[in-house]
Amino acid sequence: MPDGALPVLDVRDLKTVFKTRGGEVHAVNDVSFELRPGELLGVVGESGSGKSVTMMSLLGLLPSPPANVRGGQVTFDGRDLLKVNPDELRSVRGAKIGFIFQDPMTSLNPVFTVGNQIMEPLRKHMGLNKREAAVRAQELLELVGIPDAARRLLDYPHQFSGGMRQRVMIAIALACDPQVLIADEPTTALDVTIQAQILELMKELRSKLGMAVIWITHDLGVIAGIADRVMVMYAGQVVEHAPVEELFQNPQHPYTRALLKTIPTISGERAARLTIIEGQPPIMMAPPNACAFRDRCDVAFERCAQENPPRYDVGHGHDAACFFDARTGVPRDV
Ligand SMILES: Nc1ncnc2c1ncn2[C@@H]1O[C@H](COP(=O)(O)OP(=O)(O)OP(=O)(O)O)[C@@H](O)[C@H]1O
Ligand SMILES: [Mg+2]
Repeated sequence: MPDGALPVLDVRDLKTVFKTRGGEVHAVNDVSFELRPGELLGVVGESGSGKSVTMMSLLGLLPSPPANVRGGQVTFDGRDLLKVNPDELRSVRGAKIGFIFQDPMTSLNPVFTVGNQIMEPLRKHMGLNKREAAVRAQELLELVGIPDAARRLLDYPHQFSGGMRQRVMIAIALACDPQVLIADEPTTALDVTIQAQILELMKELRSKLGMAVIWITHDLGVIAGIADRVMVMYAGQVVEHAPVEELFQNPQHPYTRALLKTIPTISGERAARLTIIEGQPPIMMAPPNACAFRDRCDVAFERCAQENPPRYDVGHGHDAACFFDARTGVPRDV
């Protein structure tokens, strides 16, 4: 994919807050990223870093109140998704942008057959009649590798294993040939073998269907295997962003470097000890006015407590929000 290709999705300065009794929680703070046609963008970060809230904000999926998408632009198909009316947004969501969340709101409904649930978006968004939708639903189940698809369409979700249910979720997300698929931790609840199968399936489908994918995970190991580019989030901000090999070979942000150390490696017969990052990510009760990682950082200095670092371009499509220059080993001179 050429670097200059127009993004399919362009998110600028997205800001989301939650109004709570204790005050406003600033969950997403000026998040900007683009997704290019056909690429897989991995999003990583600890629990609470704002990965899900970012994606739900741009799809208009957060209940308001308590959520308030306070600013930004989300350009998709020539319009700003934050400004379109609810009907228009519904026609994008689930059709042109498919999503798989592990959220009860979007999981399978126990009282309808799997076939019904795959046919629903096909009838609603693609205008297919019942017979056409049934044929397409069967093709979709076959596409995601469910054997005996014609018969399984008549089964209910509880008759499927966890891995198979996840495949059904993928089939639903893919039903309307989306240009973009957003997958939020789609494999964390599954055992390792099934996770590997689903990842293989995603790789295969992506090359077959040519859609762009946003893949959210805690697991940098997963990212290494499937992503083209990676965005690292911390305290509702993008702290580092780079092509995948560049990120692994040349991590710039102290948080990314710490995350990379948490990947278990196999040394000899034994897995090496897992390093965890000490301390907790902060809950942001105000917009960031200093580096949010400074208390856990081993290279922080005065300036980190005085200003919030912007995303510095370090070349090779790589940027990092840190006042310390990992390449020179000294604070940036700006
Ligand atoms: N309803 C809510 N009210 C108040 N704060 C919320 C609410 N929902 C989310 N948040 C806050 O928003 C921040 C980002 O949450 P988010 O769910 O996006 O994290 P995440 O990166 O997806 O984490 P995980 O890896 O655990 O899924 C967290 O600090 C969380 O406490
Ligand atoms: Mg999440």
